[in-house]
Amino acid sequence: MDALRIRGGIPLHGEVAVGGSKNAALPIMAASILASEPVWLEGVPQLNDVDTLSLVLGHLGVEVKRQRDGRLKLETVDSRPTRTDYEHVSRMRASFCVLGPLLARRGRAVVSLPGGCQIGDRPVDLHLKGLAALGANIKVEHGYVVAEAQRLVGAHVHLSGSRGPTVTGTANVLSAAVLARGRTTITGAALEPEIVDLGRFLKSLGAKIDGLGTSTLEIEGRCELGGGGYRIIPDRIEAATLLLATAITGGSATIGGAAPEHLGQVLEHLRRAGADVQVDGDRISLSARGRPAPTDIVAQPYPGVPTDLQSQWMAWMALARGRSVIRDQVFGDRFSHVAELKRLGAKIERAGDLAVVSGVERLTGACVMASDLRASAALVLAGLAAEGETVVRRIYHLDRGYERLEGKLRRLQAQIARAPESALEDLAQPPSIITGR
Ligand code: EPZ
Repeated sequence: MDALRIRGGIPLHGEVAVGGSKNAALPIMAASILASEPVWLEGVPQLNDVDTLSLVLGHLGVEVKRQRDGRLKLETVDSRPTRTDYEHVSRMRASFCVLGPLLARRGRAVVSLPGGCQIGDRPVDLHLKGLAALGANIKVEHGYVVAEAQRLVGAHVHLSGSRGPTVTGTANVLSAAVLARGRTTITGAALEPEIVDLGRFLKSLGAKIDGLGTSTLEIEGRCELGGGGYRIIPDRIEAATLLLATAITGGSATIGGAAPEHLGQVLEHLRRAGADVQVDGDRISLSARGRPAPTDIVAQPYPGVPTDLQSQWMAWMALARGRSVIRDQVFGDRFSHVAELKRLGAKIERAGDLAVVSGVERLTGACVMASDLRASAALVLAGLAAEGETVVRRIYHLDRGYERLEGKLRRLQAQIARAPESALEDLAQPPSIITGR
């Protein structure tokens, strides 16, 4: 297993480009099952999650090949398979996104129920309710969803639950509805840019969809969809993570190739906390000095502050000039980063779906453990600001969703390097010995 070694206290400077969106690429790759011709995707990031989904699609008769020009080519070479395995879906929950496309294109889908994960219980009841509303016969047995339908029939589907809309639930039902007979109306649909991107991809294959970007989607089913090329949107979470890395180190940097319109409320909060943020086309420049002003956030469905940014924001607020309240209304248990941030000196109290962060003057380097994708990013950011050296272990969590993050941070002058955990024999030693080197 690899770890990241970080020497903290160095302000980030320079310019770096953001990659393609993981959470747009995954449902779009799954939806390629619907295409009757080959699909070429530009901007798909090189991530472990992309590799896992490519493996799942391969077992489902969809050949996935990275071309020399970086595009991903997806082509159905065998349309008989309809079953995914537990070991793949449990490793990457988003594999569950193959359910809707498989059912719609091949009439049957046997997909393992995704397990829970570090950020809490991850139910799929809304996915199943939506597909059943389109006429699918759905059973759950032996840990698998078995869904069958000769031909799905358009219907009115309401897709919002007690915690708001479901992003991948909307992806599954939208991907199924485009081949259903007749008209489907989805109310309570997710508004996330990644869902708009999936809708635009499906329209590029010939699907008829209205209402993208609103909570009501109108779909006119087609008998068949074509193929072709499509470019994935930039990753708004990666862009915001790089902006927060600049802010937490009191640096000044520009993130290129971004989509600022996908980061509305986040840019507002960065300014409220004291950062100077300038937008020029697809470039977002941020400079910050000293400790931020304490700034509360509530992680909510889009266009609110994304839950995928909650832990990184907490890392910055750990150094604020006062107390901030951070609430997560999407995943109430998404606080596995709190204990590790406290090892770096943060003062944080948990209470239900919120955490109260009392800002401190400084964080000090330590050996910490990554847990889930975004919690790992929070620990890297805190390490960039902490005095001395921080070692973040088990960074395979990070590699699931960030493409060469340490390389991008080094482009911004960070002192960060990847090393096998076995090579870091003094991992357990107190920082004074490490920094004493
Ligand atoms: C997507 O997960 C993202 N993953 C997550 O990003 C993101 O945090 C999440 O949306 C919220 O924005 C991908 O797009 C691959 P949800 P998803 O269904 O679709 C409840 C990352 O770090 N719910 O929108 O699984 C659920 O418990 C990942 O990149 C039901 O109750 O999340 C949650 O409270 C982590 N029933 C809320 O809805 C359901 O059937 C939103 O979940 C489905 C969801």
